[in-house]
Amino acid sequence: MTVYQATVSAPVNIACIKYWGKRDTKLILPTNSSLSVTLDQDHLRSTTTSRADPSFDKDKLWLNGKEESIQPGGRLSTCISEMKRLRASLELQNSDLPKLSTFPVHIASSNNFPTAAGLASSASGFAALVASLASLYELPATPSELSLIARQGSGSACRSLFGGFVAWEMGSAPDGSDSLAVEVAPREHWPDIHALICVVSDDKKGTSSTSGMQRTVETSTLLQHRIAQVVPARMSAITKAILQRDFPEFARITMQDSNQFHSVALDTDPPIFYLNDVSRAIIALITEYNRTAGTIKAAYTYDAGPNAVIYAPKENIKEIVELLLHYFPQAEPFADPFALGVDKQGKLP
Ligand code: PMV
Repeated sequence: MTVYQATVSAPVNIACIKYWGKRDTKLILPTNSSLSVTLDQDHLRSTTTSRADPSFDKDKLWLNGKEESIQPGGRLSTCISEMKRLRASLELQNSDLPKLSTFPVHIASSNNFPTAAGLASSASGFAALVASLASLYELPATPSELSLIARQGSGSACRSLFGGFVAWEMGSAPDGSDSLAVEVAPREHWPDIHALICVVSDDKKGTSSTSGMQRTVETSTLLQHRIAQVVPARMSAITKAILQRDFPEFARITMQDSNQFHSVALDTDPPIFYLNDVSRAIIALITEYNRTAGTIKAAYTYDAGPNAVIYAPKENIKEIVELLLHYFPQAEPFADPFALGVDKQGKLP
């Protein structure tokens, strides 16, 4: 008996230009383009196994061993049915193919890091889901084509289909057909940039990105300024900085954009606070570190949670880790030690 099964893993990505706001909530079309770095090591990944079998009674999904319901018309169901649709059109072209599009699928996904703690678990999760179904169905789709489907699971997931430096172009088509991820530069273009993940708290976040974004779109005037006046120029400037490997410029834009995203959260009614005192202390520390160096040696950025991600050239990482551990001695700050080049104690190997 043939077993139809595939396992694929996908990494987390951390945005330098933040996506915040939807112009279409069903298709997940953003109010601005965004740009991220995909973390490329073994930590911070989702691994997903999909299996199609005619004996299954319905589609099912387990997340970290717990069954999740697949709501009709919901995001999981949309991604699964879009992938089945692509498989069905392949089967139409080649009648020798087994009719996997008609079989129910069982999907098991697990994260090797805390789920929903502002560590972009939905990004790696939906990217791995779509990639594992693409592998199961042997689809000839490009990462950009798959990003169109992953986007409908979780917006930021579309960027995790590529490694390296990735843009999500917001597009303008009402059907979302041009709102997709594209590679800005592969990881090898600038391997010197490392990411330090400082887990300030691994609690589940208070305001989900979905409800937070909706409230921001409805109430924030600062968001309107951001999407019209600020992000387009920042997208071009950071792309140029990446292509020229200009770390101070890359870092400056990254920090400014994180600050503006959290300002927009605060400008929401009622306001949303994702940062806590430790997050703000890390901002102060990195600011002081750069000021005393007389140049920008590190950049902080925060998603919808209190955890800091610090981007820095490899040569600065040891110094930054020592600084962080000096001021936060209780910390077990690094969820991604391999990517960072440090072990759990913060020591370089
Ligand atoms: O894809 P979502 O709905 O989890 O939204 C992610 C939003 C941020 O992480 C805050 C920013 C981003 O661009 O990843």
